[in-house]
Formats: sequence, structure tokens, C-alpha cells
Amino acid sequence: MKYNFDEIVSRWGTESVKWDMCERGVLPMWVADMDFKAAPAILEALQERLDHGIFGYELVPDDYFAVQDEWFSSRHGWSGLTRETVIPTTGVIAAYSAAIKAMTVPGDKVIVFTPCYNAFFPAIRNNKCVQLDCPLHYEGGIWTIDWEDFEKKAADARVLLFCNPHNPVGRVWTRSELERVGEICLRNNVFVISDEIHCELTYPGHDYTPWATLPEDMVLNSVTCMSPTKPFNIAGIQIANIYAADAAVYRKMDRAINDNECCDVNVFGVTALKAAYGASGEWLDELRAYLYENARTVYCFLEDELPQVVASPLEGTYLMWLDFSNLFQVKEGLSDALGEFLEHDCGLKLSVGTIYGLVGEGFMRLNIACPRSVLLEGLQRLVAGIRFLMKPRGGCCHGGGGHGCCHGEGHGEHGECCHGEGHEHGECCHGNGECCEKEGSGSRKTQTPEN
Ligand SMILES: Cc1ncc(COP(=O)(O)O)c(C=O)c1O
Repeated sequence: MKYNFDEIVSRWGTESVKWDMCERGVLPMWVADMDFKAAPAILEALQERLDHGIFGYELVPDDYFAVQDEWFSSRHGWSGLTRETVIPTTGVIAAYSAAIKAMTVPGDKVIVFTPCYNAFFPAIRNNKCVQLDCPLHYEGGIWTIDWEDFEKKAADARVLLFCNPHNPVGRVWTRSELERVGEICLRNNVFVISDEIHCELTYPGHDYTPWATLPEDMVLNSVTCMSPTKPFNIAGIQIANIYAADAAVYRKMDRAINDNECCDVNVFGVTALKAAYGASGEWLDELRAYLYENARTVYCFLEDELPQVVASPLEGTYLMWLDFSNLFQVKEGLSDALGEFLEHDCGLKLSVGTIYGLVGEGFMRLNIACPRSVLLEGLQRLVAGIRFLMKPRGGCCHGGGGHGCCHGEGHGEHGECCHGEGHEHGECCHGNGECCEKEGSGSRKTQTPEN
């Protein structure tokens, strides 16, 4: 590999949401950004822009559109990205929020396929619309659309807020699935807002199909929100676009982003986007190969060490959706309790499944976009923590279920929860031969590799 994704770059103390919102020593594998430096071409372009030294208001240049048209047409068979169809804005959340505003009136219903990206929910609420959950169907680790339910709900909705590839379940929707969604939406007069921020991060056998390459009537009944920020790890720079093929829809979007005052973009965003799409393709391809290996590492590790935890097949994104329901009885509060336990007792922060909708109870989301050694450390913490919870114990319970993640069922000899009381020394969760809560040596003593 030409690029070194194994390099560990400390992010502590950089005001990183992912890292600095955790206590030191906790390994953060939650927020969706990556622990890799951006591609060299992006860093060079930003440096050059920085060296100019003046950062006044800027126009968005023609090559901003041309570079996207070239990228999407050569990689994904999607052409026609021009100044007349693409509206730059500050982020994908800003983009889909403006799109909801443009296409609804207060009280309209907006469908989401849950579990779904948690920031969809406030965008619907803030536009005074009503969220209509259409839970995905889950069987054998695989998530699919519940067509019958979707048909029913589409009859009552104005907008579908769609995510392709889907965060958090990692599905890359197939063309036939997309066309079926598009057909149901057309028939029911439901407008489609397709969030495609994760579109570059797909793995072998799962090609991304842009919504904008579906039959024309479906494309005209949609907007696509996209950005280079996820795949190129430049989310803090904040740049995104809304694609609208229909001129009337374009005008509505333009009005909405002006109403929301998010129509001017950051000079560094323009520079970074051009360097990403214009000169970072090779870096992206290596990144995807690295992430694919990370995903395989997770599967192998879980198969060997914790086969009860089911990881849904990762078709796209770097966010793995883990099912703990074989280990614990799924009850309200399970994911929260598991999240608390893993963070505070095992030094590992994952995203709690229920923030993506109630259907996420019993699930946790794992961000694998980090050097492999860090990933392995995170997996070890996960396994040690879960083993600790599962370990048969001799009557060592709090009675109340400790952190509440076991609910007194399906684990341990006595069906009881332990959490550090009455267990033998050297058997606690961190696998470091130390005892945790009693000894004050807690998991946070287990340092992350970069410390
Ligand atoms: C599906 C999805 N949409 C949007 C965003 C955020 O986009 P932005 O930072 O450009 O607002 C994320 C971030 O994780 C995401 O997963």
C-alpha cells in the first residue's frame, strides 16, 4: 500500500467530538469520523490555500462542479452535475433539512427506515413535520425493507428521507430495491430525499447505485444530498451539495437554503472538495481496501471470541451494526446499559443502538475507521467486557442487575449480574490481570495505543 493507514495519530486534545467527549483512556469507536489523516492531495491543497493568507468571501468556481461531474460519471455512471443542478451548502444535515423544508408544510409526514441516522429525527421535528417510522425487516443478521409496511405508510406520507448506503445497518441498496422504493414513492406522491454521504465507502460485491441514475421520473421526484466529507475524512471542514435534476425543485431547494442561511460555503471546503474528487481517488481506493480488511478482522474476531454477537454484513460505510440479543434479553434500556458499561467499565465507547430508533434496542454501532491495532484493542475490550458479564459467578450479585444490561436473565450461573463484586481477582473484564472496581484500577488505566 502506498498510504499508511496503520499510522496512529493522537486526536486527544484536538477538540475532537469523537475523542475529547470521552474521558482519557476510553477508546472512542462511536462518532462517524475516521482516525486517519486526510489524503495528501487534500492536505497540500489546503496548505496552499492557507499560505495565500486571505480568507474572504469566495465564489464557488466552475471547476467545483466539473470535478464532481467527472468523479461521479467516471466512477458511478452519474453525469449532469453542473451549476444548474448542484447547490453547494454547509453540510448534508443542512442539505436534507432544507430539502424537507422545501417539500413539506407543517404536519406533513416524513418516512424513515429505522434504525436510521439519528440526526434525521430532529431535522423532521425542526421542520414541524411528523416522523413516520418504517422499521426495516431483520432476519439472520440481514436488513431489508418491509415492503408491505412501506406501501401502507407511503399512502400517508409526503417525503421519504432515505439513506444510501444506510447508516447504521451498512446496507448498500441494490438497483432493484431502489427502483421498487422509487416506484412506490411515485405512485403515492412521496418525494424522495436521498442522503448519499456514505456512497464512496462500499465493499466488494456491493456497488453504489446513485438515486440519480434511476429512471427519469424517479430522479425528477427526488434530491440527492452528498458530500466528500465522510470518505475523505474532512467532516469538520463542512461542505456538501444538493443535486436536483428538476429545475422547479432546484429553485425550491435554493430558496430553502437561503431561508435557512446556509448558502455560503467555507473556502477550505471548496478547496478540499476539489482536491478530494480531483486528486484523491487512489487514496480512497486504498482506504476502502483497508476498511474492508478491518471489517473482516471484526468478523473473524467475533467468530473466534464472541460468536453470540452478530455483526450485520458490512456492504458499505465504516459503521458496523452489532446485535447482542443472543446474549441478553432485549428489554427497554439494554443498549443504554450496555453502552454505559462498555464506556465506564471497559474503556470502550460505542454508539447506543436506540439513538437510531427503538428498533435499535439490543444493538450497538461500532466505528471501524481506525488503524487496525486500535481496532483490535477495541475488540479486546469488548470481548473482555462481555465475557465479564457472562461469567458464571458464585452468588456475587447486586440483586438489582448492576448496570442493568443483563436483566438477570440468560447469563451467568445464577442468572445474576456481577459488576465487580465478589469476583475473583484476576478475573475482571480488562483481561490485564487486575481487578477493576474494588481495586480502583479500572479499565481506563488500560491505555490506548497512542498514549
Ligand atoms: C447518513 C448521514 N448523513 C449526514 C451526516 C452528517 O453530515 P454533515 O456532517 O455533512 O452534516 C452523517 C454523519 O455521520 C451521516 O451518517
